[in-house]
Amino acid sequence: SSILVLNGPNLNLLGKRQPEIYGHATLDDVAELCRTAAGDVAVDIKQSNHEGQLVDWIHEARESAQGIVINAGAYTHTSIAILDALNAFEGPVIEVHISNVHRRESFRHHSYISARADGVIVGLGINGYAAAVRHIRDLIPTD
Ligand code: DQA
Repeated sequence: SSILVLNGPNLNLLGKRQPEIYGHATLDDVAELCRTAAGDVAVDIKQSNHEGQLVDWIHEARESAQGIVINAGAYTHTSIAILDALNAFEGPVIEVHISNVHRRESFRHHSYISARADGVIVGLGINGYAAAVRHIRDLIPTD
């Protein structure tokens, strides 16, 4: 079994981009945190700046992943295509935002993904990913 941790646009610059908002940790640090949180469950961590690539990976997860953790970046606020793809995925989906989007600009307050997500974590920094991975791991039956 495996957990897909999906990251959207600009998250490749994590640690370098607006550190006052997103912190100094990098996406490699996120990967390490997620692997630790997942224990013996495999974690597949991916990032793309392209909406269609994210859609394709969610489709692939139908066959390969038991759950999805997704930080879709700005596509959170715009992408019906990502929502539709997640609706075609049957396992648990947890939406993560590093920053507290509700304390920021009003255009960040609406998420298309929240209509599908089983849980939403905002404002915990990169620890939100670890909490999301632990939650999904706890839902996966052990054998
Ligand atoms: C973000 C919040 C989004 O509004 C923003 O576009 C991002 C990152 C977060 O993790 O806080 O790229 O998803």
